[in-house]
Amino acid sequence: MSEFYEVLHRRRDVRGEFSGAPVDPAALRRILGAAHAAPSVGLTQPWDFVLVSDLGLRETFAKHVHTEREIFAASLDGDRADTFARIKIEGILEASLGVVVTYDPARGAPDVLGRHAIADAGLYSVVLTIQNLWLAATAENLGVGWVSFYREPFLAELLGIPDGIRPVAWLCLGPVTELAAVPDLERHGWRERRALDGAIHHDRFTPGQPGPA
Ligand SMILES: Cc1cc2nc3c(=O)[nH]c(=O)nc-3n(C[C@H](O)[C@H](O)[C@H](O)COP(=O)(O)O)c2cc1C
Repeated sequence: MSEFYEVLHRRRDVRGEFSGAPVDPAALRRILGAAHAAPSVGLTQPWDFVLVSDLGLRETFAKHVHTEREIFAASLDGDRADTFARIKIEGILEASLGVVVTYDPARGAPDVLGRHAIADAGLYSVVLTIQNLWLAATAENLGVGWVSFYREPFLAELLGIPDGIRPVAWLCLGPVTELAAVPDLERHGWRERRALDGAIHHDRFTPGQPGPA
């Protein structure tokens, strides 16, 4: 039990600490097995995992992410722009592997049990597989970094993902020199974590709980 909580709190989003050493194939299999064990709406398991090791594909993606970073940076002023300039947002080339997790809303459709009223329930399932993958990788002493600075059509085209299937995340995966104790965004003064008590409500949602907005 305590080991589980230790892994959960040790998990970190990694950008700068990838060593580039290869991922043990047996560990990768265990991690993907953990991801594939996630709960899913109507037992649809609407995810797939595209393992990207090809350097050319990773370089092309990294260039696209750089362009998207510049678009976001251009929307910032003054101090925010300066702070963002110091933050690394991806380790696409430094990581050993890219894992692109996709969402197929057509899997198990049309009668998906539990999705008739909440279309996003399919997407929630994919996010759960990602969280399983992230925690399992942490338990294997590997790092994961989620990259979302991309346009879905670009990544779909790059990896030959069929129409209608969405690339939900590009995950950088691999051995790391360390897992930082504090999230990068907090370390760089971008944003602080909220206290738990500010997130707990009793009976009714109370707006304006203490902590950062
Ligand atoms: C949906 C999602 C998208 C994210 N996209 C990025 C990203 O593009 N680049 C990045 O550096 N971190 C990204 N992150 C990581 C968050 O910045 C990170 O989880 C947060 O700062 C808390 O840090 P921690 O995960 O180390 O606790 C993303 C996380 C999530 C859940």
